[in-house]
Parts: sequence; structure tokens; C-alpha cells
Amino acid sequence: MAKIKLTKAPFKGTESQERELRAALVEIKKRKGAVMPALQKAQEIYGYLPIEVQTILAGVLEVPVEEVFGVATFYSQFTLNPRGEYNVSVCMGTACYVKGAGEVLDSIKVQLGIEPDECSADGRFSLNATRCIGCCGLAPVMTINDNVYGKVSVNDLEKILNNY
Ligand code: FES
Repeated sequence: MAKIKLTKAPFKGTESQERELRAALVEIKKRKGAVMPALQKAQEIYGYLPIEVQTILAGVLEVPVEEVFGVATFYSQFTLNPRGEYNVSVCMGTACYVKGAGEVLDSIKVQLGIEPDECSADGRFSLNATRCIGCCGLAPVMTINDNVYGKVSVNDLEKILNNY
């Protein structure tokens, strides 16, 4: 079984988010197979599915939290971790990989102190390893939010990350 990585960032859900979720769950609970639409609604409200939110959901739907966790971790549409203020993605497609994307990713992991699919404890950075993003001519490629960086070398990383 694949290891599930959980965020280091503390949960920052608000009372109004919880009110919105609970109100939506009252309706969703009437449906058959409510866990899936409930998780979709929760992710829409919070952006991700921390254990605190899964616990609310399990309580209202009156299902074991293990069942909610099982569904949340089975489907790739769900994420247990928040995105950071700056979401760093390193393309691990073939063209980027052969041009050194693995070393780029390793170096970013060290500099940010997080693994792919994690968010830093201060919520500033999250990190992802992605598939080809369609600009292979610029390999290796990384993005930070909407900014694309091409022909990235390990030596450029400190300067790039310091801009954020
Ligand atoms: S393989 Fe990285 S952009 Fe295509």
C-alpha cells in the first residue's frame, strides 16, 4: 500500500466554512452513497480534506471516519493536503527527466524542507511532481503558481525561490 503523506500545515478552517459544510451535508445525507458527494462539497469549501473535515463529515453522515478516509484516499480527485501560497511544480515528464528534473526536484525538497504533495508548516510553499506540461523544448521545466521557468538548473533554484 502506498504511503499517505499528510500536511505539516495546521488546519485553518473557519466557523463559516464549517457552517456551510454542515448545511450542505444535511441535504447530501438524504442521498444514497453520500460520502462521495460530501467529500466533493467539502473539498470545494476547504480546498482539501484534512482529518478535521473528514471527522465532521463522518459525524454528520453517521459513518465511520475510516470509511470517509478510505474514499478520500482512494480517488485521485481528492487531496488531503492544502496548496501553499506558492505551489511549486516540477515536471517529471520524459524530456524534463532526462535533462535533470530529478536533481531539480531533489534540490527543491532540501531547500523547502518538504516532499512532493506536502505543504510547508507556514503554508507558504507546496511541492508537486507533475507529468508533462507541454513545453518540453524548455526542459527541465518548473512552475510556481502561473510562472513557468524553463531550462532550470540546480544552481538557479535559490535565486528563483528567493523571489517568493
Ligand atoms: S516533459 Fe516536461 S514539459 Fe514535457
